[in-house]
Amino acid sequence: MRVLLTLVLFISSVLIPTSLCVSFSYNQQNLWTGVCNAGNTGRQSPINIVLADVVQSPSLTPLVFNSEWDSTNTVGTFSNTGHNIQYDLNSTSPDITTVTPIGTYKFLQFHMHWGNQTGVGSEHLINGEQSEVEIHFVHQKVGASTAGNMFGVVGVFADVGDIPMTGIWQQLNASNVPAVDDVILSDGIRFTDLLPSNRDYYYYEGGLTTPPCTEAVQFFLLKNRITVPSAYLARLRSIDQNDGPGAINYRDIQSLNGRVVMGSGSNMVYASCISVLLFAVLSLQLVFFV
Ligand SMILES: *[C@@H]1O[C@H](CO)[C@@H](O)[C@H](O)[C@H]1NC(C)=O
Ligand SMILES: *[C@@H]1O[C@H](CO)[C@@H](O)[C@H](O)[C@H]1NC(C)=O
Ligand SMILES: *[C@@H]1O[C@H](CO)[C@@H](O)[C@H](O)[C@H]1NC(C)=O
Ligand SMILES: [Zn+2]
Repeated sequence: MRVLLTLVLFISSVLIPTSLCVSFSYNQQNLWTGVCNAGNTGRQSPINIVLADVVQSPSLTPLVFNSEWDSTNTVGTFSNTGHNIQYDLNSTSPDITTVTPIGTYKFLQFHMHWGNQTGVGSEHLINGEQSEVEIHFVHQKVGASTAGNMFGVVGVFADVGDIPMTGIWQQLNASNVPAVDDVILSDGIRFTDLLPSNRDYYYYEGGLTTPPCTEAVQFFLLKNRITVPSAYLARLRSIDQNDGPGAINYRDIQSLNGRVVMGSGSNMVYASCISVLLFAVLSLQLVFFV
């Protein structure tokens, strides 16, 4: 037990710094293969989620977001990492936690993935299609006992829309860090403003989507999307990154390798198929027995 704990502590202490120190370019993802294949057991991310293959599971209970998700007591910093604008929660901030069917996770940071033109941006695809933005709320599992479930990511997809850049978007716009390595202190972000009201999700086991691509992430991708104002999307695209302004920061799709994506909540397509089937069976019985 103690050996295991030491191992976990060791792994977690090397994992986070390493992921920050590996230099990489989104324009040359072929060069990632060396470092990313080192620990590749076939659960890389992101993936294309084919809705017809999603297995609805009653064991996937709703995610429980603690009250700090909905408060403005939060304190954190935005930094331009050269690949992203990343918000890190300060240690002085109240804990933000998310309870999932496989354990409790503590929020560490969030960042976004976007593209350089219409129709690209998100890392995960739904039925082969990208949305314009994918927000990743990165968490660390409380008491994680194996390296494979060290992190949990709640993902939110956003489609672009002609809505005003007010509220949370204005706050984020004010916190966009112009130059690589710059840091801006920011408080009062209410994270529920970045969540859709219905939080049904897809769940699968994957890995970090940046080198070293460590296979230690449980993904909870919300089915329902939010809308990102076109002015904020334009602002994201103007941010100076290592690959220059207008660069993309999403990774190519990885093989599913037999993994099953599960779904929580309702699945309207699936439900209506069943009722059509039931109706057909009932009609047949009527034909036979009436
Ligand atoms: C947030 O953290 C930074 C560095 O970790 C620290 O300098 C700053 O004082 C903290 N801010 C607050 C309001 O606690
Ligand atoms: C976006 O990037 C792709 C390459 O990743 C390039 O082919 C395309 O021309 C770019 N689009 C714009 C609008 O710059
Ligand atoms: C967004 O930020 C830019 C740069 O700081 C600023 O010029 C612009 O007025 C901001 N827009 C809104 C709606 O706050
Ligand atoms: Zn991410």
